[in-house]
Amino acid sequence: MAFFKDMLGAGESLVRNSMPLNYDFQPKVVPYREKEMRQISFAIKPLFQNRDARNVVVFGPSGVGKTVACKHLLDELAEETDEVIPLYINCWQKNTSFRILAEMCEVLGYKFTQNKRTDELFAVVKQILNKKSAVLVFDEVDKMEEIDFIYTLLEEIYRKSIVLVSNRKEWLEQMDSRIKSRLTPEVLEFKPYNYTETKGILSQRRDAAFVQGIWEDAAFETIARKTSEMQDMRSGLYLMKESANAAEDRSSKKITSDDVKKALTKLDEFTIKTKESLDEDLKAILAIIKEKSGKRIGEIYKSYQEKGGKTAYKTFQRRIAKLEQDKFIETKKIAGGSEGATTIISFAKEKKLTEY
Ligand SMILES: Nc1ncnc2c1ncn2[C@@H]1O[C@H](COP(=O)(O)OP(=O)(O)O)[C@@H](O)[C@H]1O
Ligand SMILES: [Mg+2]
Repeated sequence: MAFFKDMLGAGESLVRNSMPLNYDFQPKVVPYREKEMRQISFAIKPLFQNRDARNVVVFGPSGVGKTVACKHLLDELAEETDEVIPLYINCWQKNTSFRILAEMCEVLGYKFTQNKRTDELFAVVKQILNKKSAVLVFDEVDKMEEIDFIYTLLEEIYRKSIVLVSNRKEWLEQMDSRIKSRLTPEVLEFKPYNYTETKGILSQRRDAAFVQGIWEDAAFETIARKTSEMQDMRSGLYLMKESANAAEDRSSKKITSDDVKKALTKLDEFTIKTKESLDEDLKAILAIIKEKSGKRIGEIYKSYQEKGGKTAYKTFQRRIAKLEQDKFIETKKIAGGSEGATTIISFAKEKKLTEY
């Protein structure tokens, strides 16, 4: 058999180090976000003089560097001083106050969280944080079911800066007014990168991950262009990885435009597949929303019933929430109108890579 005859020499690979291609890789430098990071650092600054500091709400779509910038800032803070405790918590999947506080205890080095109630966990957190100052970053905070812990932190931690990171600006508008009035945050928007910035970030990752000179210029540029179009840096990392796989599959020592083409079809298949993974009822609801994008939830429910949909309104609302969480649709609450408050539902044009 000669299956392996033409393959690259043993141990030889196009990838030198695959880590930089991971979505959660933390690069040493975070270019193009200096302005945003400076603004957050100004909000934090009073902590250096032992005073309470300002809070920040960061928002912007997926894959524009919100997480990487916040983490970079916390790393720099940790290098600079021991007097300010840096704390990063991702709220995704820890979506209750109890779970967040348990995680905070864990990160702060307190291990005896078992069988403790929320208020007991809070007492631990409070005791540790109030010895010093703290910068508390809560990432993906819009995924939380409730954010009562934030109110308690605002009330009882003396010297802190709370940074809340959300994908949606509306989240801030819908925030519990009791929390909002205590928080009075600075609001910082992360806008998508332009083509040059996208290319800059991807080249940084390419140079860290791949053997030098194996990317054909045109191939790499196609990826940069597609990523810039999709406005999510993760699609670029995904495409680089898949293109390299395609090149390795044919034992090539160069990554060419054909390899990128293959990677691009995979990207499309991926989108289709995730849609297929929805059950029939969700698919039917999604089809109606596509047709009636921008309409009120009540109207969409009516069409759903007319088309034979059977679930009760409460369940229907939950299914809408699920579609939103999976980024198939977007919803917006509006206050006025003849029927009082309602929700407007729109179809999300391009499901982003981030969600897979
Ligand atoms: N300015 C940047 N410099 C270096 N890498 C970046 C930059 N912006 C984004 N990235 C990378 O792109 C990917 C997505 O960024 P991330 O911070 O996770 O986005 P967000 O939190 O806005 O969804 C990550 O792998 C991240 O390291
Ligand atoms: Mg993020």
